[in-house]
Amino acid sequence: MTPHINAAPNSFAETVLLPGDPLRAKYIAENYLENAELVTDVRNMFGYTGTYKGKRISVMGHGMGIPSASIYFHELIKEYGVKNLIRIGSCGGVADDVHVRDIVVATGAGTASITNRTRFAGYDYAAVPHFQLLKTCSDIAQEQQIAVHFGNIFTNDLFYGCDDNLLPALQNMNILGVEMETSALFAIAAESRVKALSILTVSDHIVTGEETTAQERETTFDNMMLLAFETAIR
Ligand code: HPA
Repeated sequence: MTPHINAAPNSFAETVLLPGDPLRAKYIAENYLENAELVTDVRNMFGYTGTYKGKRISVMGHGMGIPSASIYFHELIKEYGVKNLIRIGSCGGVADDVHVRDIVVATGAGTASITNRTRFAGYDYAAVPHFQLLKTCSDIAQEQQIAVHFGNIFTNDLFYGCDDNLLPALQNMNILGVEMETSALFAIAAESRVKALSILTVSDHIVTGEETTAQERETTFDNMMLLAFETAIR
């Protein structure tokens, strides 16, 4: 047990899929896993373990923003021996050729957060996914003919009240989308010598104002789930 996870030892699979929303974790457990069991419910941050095509997989929420998510990433790795962490989240679209409901797989994540500099003696850490997971994900996207944008994203600390200069800078540097956890996931995984990947669906577009509804966000991410599960079990 940890301060934030009340699961028994060995309750988690080596691979955990991590949406921000605990109710999305529940939805995924109920609709994609076989024999899913609730293994933790502290603060209603639900985590489940079951099987997908016969392989043991867990799914757990991580909340919003780096401070929340980092607690779960750390405890899953250090206390439960999790080896592969695959974030399955949403992002705000930034690039012109990225549209609502497209899939973005992060090949790197810049950040507004000071947390990676804190881990890295004040220097700028290049937060990247694990190459093998990224390659597997790319292979599966090709095999399953799932359209994916691979590229750089930005992990922001603020959802509201961002610096006016931020969006032009993101556009200038060809950032595909903005979310709030991935740069920390990649750094924590690297520090612990485990593997991480971040697969995102575009829930809204920051420049064009395109949006999806909450209902769509909860239920229409089948392609992302296929990509995540097939990457998880390969
Ligand atoms: N900003 C940050 N995180 C997000 C956004 C956004 O616009 N959309 C989905 N996650």
